[in-house]
Amino acid sequence: MNLLASLRRAIRDILAARIDDPAVVDELVGTIRPSTDPKFGDYQANCAMPLGKRLGKPPREIAAELVAAVVARPEIVAMCEPPEIAGPGFINLRLRDEWLAAEVNRAARDEERLGVGIASPAKTYVVDYSGPNVAKPMHVGHIRSTVIGDALWRTLKFLGHNAIGDNHVGDWGTQFGMIIYGWKHFRDEAAYKANAVEELARLYRLTRQLIDYWDAATALPKATDRLVEIKTRLLTIQTESENDKIAAKKTSAELKRLGAELDDIAAVMATLQSKLDAVHNNARLSVLAVDHAAINDAVLSETAKLHAGDPENLALWREFLPPCMSDIETIYRRLGVKIDYTLGESFYHDRLAGIVELLARKNLVRESDGAKCVFLDGFDFPMIVQKRDGAFLYSTTDLATIDYREKTWRPDAILYVVDHRQSGHFAQLFAATRLADLTDAELAHVSFGTVLGDDGKPFKTRSGDTVGLGGLLDEAERRALAIVSENDDAKPQPELSAEERANVARIVGIAAIKYADLAHNRTSDYVFSYDKMLATKGNTATYMQYAYARVRSIFRKGDVDIDALRREAAAEIVFTHPSERALAIGLLSLEEALDSMLAGYYPHHLTTYLFDVATRYSTFYQECDVLKAEPESTRTSRLLLCDLTARTLKLGLGLLGIETVEKM
Ligand code: ARG
Repeated sequence: MNLLASLRRAIRDILAARIDDPAVVDELVGTIRPSTDPKFGDYQANCAMPLGKRLGKPPREIAAELVAAVVARPEIVAMCEPPEIAGPGFINLRLRDEWLAAEVNRAARDEERLGVGIASPAKTYVVDYSGPNVAKPMHVGHIRSTVIGDALWRTLKFLGHNAIGDNHVGDWGTQFGMIIYGWKHFRDEAAYKANAVEELARLYRLTRQLIDYWDAATALPKATDRLVEIKTRLLTIQTESENDKIAAKKTSAELKRLGAELDDIAAVMATLQSKLDAVHNNARLSVLAVDHAAINDAVLSETAKLHAGDPENLALWREFLPPCMSDIETIYRRLGVKIDYTLGESFYHDRLAGIVELLARKNLVRESDGAKCVFLDGFDFPMIVQKRDGAFLYSTTDLATIDYREKTWRPDAILYVVDHRQSGHFAQLFAATRLADLTDAELAHVSFGTVLGDDGKPFKTRSGDTVGLGGLLDEAERRALAIVSENDDAKPQPELSAEERANVARIVGIAAIKYADLAHNRTSDYVFSYDKMLATKGNTATYMQYAYARVRSIFRKGDVDIDALRREAAAEIVFTHPSERALAIGLLSLEEALDSMLAGYYPHHLTTYLFDVATRYSTFYQECDVLKAEPESTRTSRLLLCDLTARTLKLGLGLLGIETVEKM
């Protein structure tokens, strides 16, 4: 059960009887929270102050009125001691020990769900996550989408919802034009035979580099012109303002803006120059660049031919796709992620003309510069659905995807777990979807920030390539092995064979990466650091996994058959010490954490919760003997608390896609 929600529900009724505006009631109900200090009870209701202000009455008087109403409600009386009023009108709620003990025993006896209820009504969610662009090597940025999406999918399912994972892979984009072009001009057959994906990645990178070269060659002179323009203007302003104080005030904003633009342009020019230098400093590349001066248009035309069904390009696409997908599958297998459907961009190809027609029938399409556009209120730019050359866009595909999902699954919600840089795209997509009335489903962009390196820039390897995901996982596992081995060697009697160590290291390494990703608020950027994510103390997977393994080691040490003990009718949890009670409240807050995670699609609400449970457990374990506890009933009770702790950690981590080990 969700304790907080139950309290809030009961108190909501009381408040609703006094206030008409439901929004105000919501706000007041929101002030009921777990208390920060046990002195103030287990939960605190701070609604008497704002309510007093509204009604023009002293808050303590209001608090007394609310308490009188509270004690008249049997469901709260069963749960809580008579509430206390403190300070200016805080209402402190303390759960009854008998009630708490009964609930925690109920959770302990619930093998599968630990007392967590099933959502009603169950809803259908489509979760759109991972979505790598096939044939471009998958990189660290794709971890976040994959890991966050997987955690949401697992949690939705656990709560009884119908969650459908859909991997909208980019398998139809311009990168195939690049690879096809690369294949036709630069291929190394032997290398392709030896490792198709590696060779395709090389072809992609080479073609991309030549395109970037020619783009930079065009852009650099323009940037230089702009630089000169800004410098001239700055000089003019400076001279003017020296002579005229009033003018100086007026131009100060412009000065600031130009200064900032100057910095930006300088940075852009440096990047462009480095792209040119990379080619100029390499004799082979210089020759290739000259030989392929029209590469940009040529690549576009290879893509267009593919989309038009050109037999040669289509055959190449069909040949390249499977090895690329199997490479991606390997990563998913290592991450322990399985996505229900993979309906990539290519799947929607045949539906794009239809969706543009549908929009046109609804009178939503207007031509602008030959392109077909949907104009949306509140946006500076329209959404282009078909270019003047007939090509469709990412947005067109996404509209067709929504249409397909609506017709296939009738979802209540579609969640897009995608990089924050695409928020403009999704804002337009959602607006266009509403306009065209493609679905009533809730549409949410579950956006996330960038993974950064130590330098605060997007995480890259030293050579400047974005980090390949496979190598990243290898490194985490390698470091985890060192930590696990060191820890095991430090025991009086090492417990793990070499094979077990390797297996534990695999689980610990992958978990570290996933947990680091999930434990940060998804909307923030975070710095990728193996040392931090594999730290054995603090809010890390490694710490949580140790916590789990340590609890489990108690049962081995005491030779306790915990599964049998849990099923004994007479075995029950009783409170003899405040830290047991505090732990029990933590354990009973699992449903609250899951609800809160799903309310805003924030996995870090669950990691924060699990860390809190581990902390409460560690206080309990410091303050209470377990195996040596007497009498027998106390020992049993504490063993059951340990057991429920371990199961809560395992279940919670499992919902995040993180495994636990019995020994480490
Ligand atoms: N392939 C896209 C990218 O990496 C992500 C796809 C997200 N899903 C969607 N329906 N647009 O940029």
